[in-house]
Amino acid sequence: MRRALATLALVALEATAEPWLDAAVSKSHKKRDPIAKKYGQWIPETHMWRKRLDYRLAQVRRIESSQERWDAAMNLAVSGLLVKNFTSVGYEVVKTPRHVHEKLNATLVAGFDQQRTEHKVDQISGEVAGFVDLGRLANEIMEDLRPMHEEWSQTKLRASNAYGLRIYRPGNTLTMHTDKLETHVISAIVHVDRDAEPWPIVIEGYDGRSVEVDLQPGEMLFYESAKCIHGRPRPLEGKWYTSLFVHYRPIDWSLRMEDARALAEKWWGSEGFHVPDDGAYDRLQLTGTGYYEPDCEHRWCDLPGVDHGDAERRAAARGEL
Ligand SMILES: *[C@@H]1O[C@H](CO)[C@@H](O)[C@H](O)[C@H]1NC(C)=O
Ligand SMILES: *[C@@H]1O[C@H](CO)[C@@H](O)[C@H](O)[C@H]1NC(C)=O
Repeated sequence: MRRALATLALVALEATAEPWLDAAVSKSHKKRDPIAKKYGQWIPETHMWRKRLDYRLAQVRRIESSQERWDAAMNLAVSGLLVKNFTSVGYEVVKTPRHVHEKLNATLVAGFDQQRTEHKVDQISGEVAGFVDLGRLANEIMEDLRPMHEEWSQTKLRASNAYGLRIYRPGNTLTMHTDKLETHVISAIVHVDRDAEPWPIVIEGYDGRSVEVDLQPGEMLFYESAKCIHGRPRPLEGKWYTSLFVHYRPIDWSLRMEDARALAEKWWGSEGFHVPDDGAYDRLQLTGTGYYEPDCEHRWCDLPGVDHGDAERRAAARGEL
């Protein structure tokens, strides 16, 4: 009877997702949870994020191709165990400073007709994207935006890389992925302009939810790029869509893929890590280091619908209102 009550109470707790209740669940979770015991405790320990990553781990263990299974294990070790979180949800939409947006747009307009093609990028399906080089402006903007990223992440940062302007083409999609561990830790997608239908970025936060963010020109998305998977599973409808990508890492950052390898090897060697596909989870596959789920529409199962840039609603979703 006692046990039954405890179980009931837990179920009730799990349905609420109040942060303090979450912490309470977490404490008992550590003792009870065989997944945490065997594979490590996901960071952060919020209930819904753990649930999300437990599910993903189950998917990874069922990947048929051992190469893909290994790459997926490495991905998951990085985003779930190795890298700590810097914010409470992992992403946020903010306004790009006006002078930055104006410079980027002016460069786009001036270079649009002479745009070159980018090299083929693993994560992007369809036509090779276009590209307008920013030259010296890239570093200038990266330095300009650094304090905003430091404030958002509450961390001193070193600039790693500013990449763009990329001009996506009709039909392009971007598989769900995390960025490069060594250098891409705190990042932003700076949306410049488009001639297209809303083309949402899907991103998964520590509340365990995926959102579809429809950035407006002049907005940017801060995100913890080595931790939160993100992509654009829906094909781009329209003519073009342009962004700049800026990446930073903490000044004392020393994590390397070898650190992830050690974790993945432990999983790999644990008993029964590979499970033959039993149909209990959506199938997960990889192309390069990007994830896709072949049996769902747009090859991603968790597409909640487009968020049309309503900041208040986003804040409410983060529990901040
Ligand atoms: C990490 O995420 C948890 C859960 O959202 C949060 O409570 C914690 O404050 C976050 N850590 C930092 C440094 O923001
Ligand atoms: C970019 O500049 C062009 C030319 O001045 C203008 O027509 C367009 O509205 C600008 N786009 C944005 C998003 O500000």
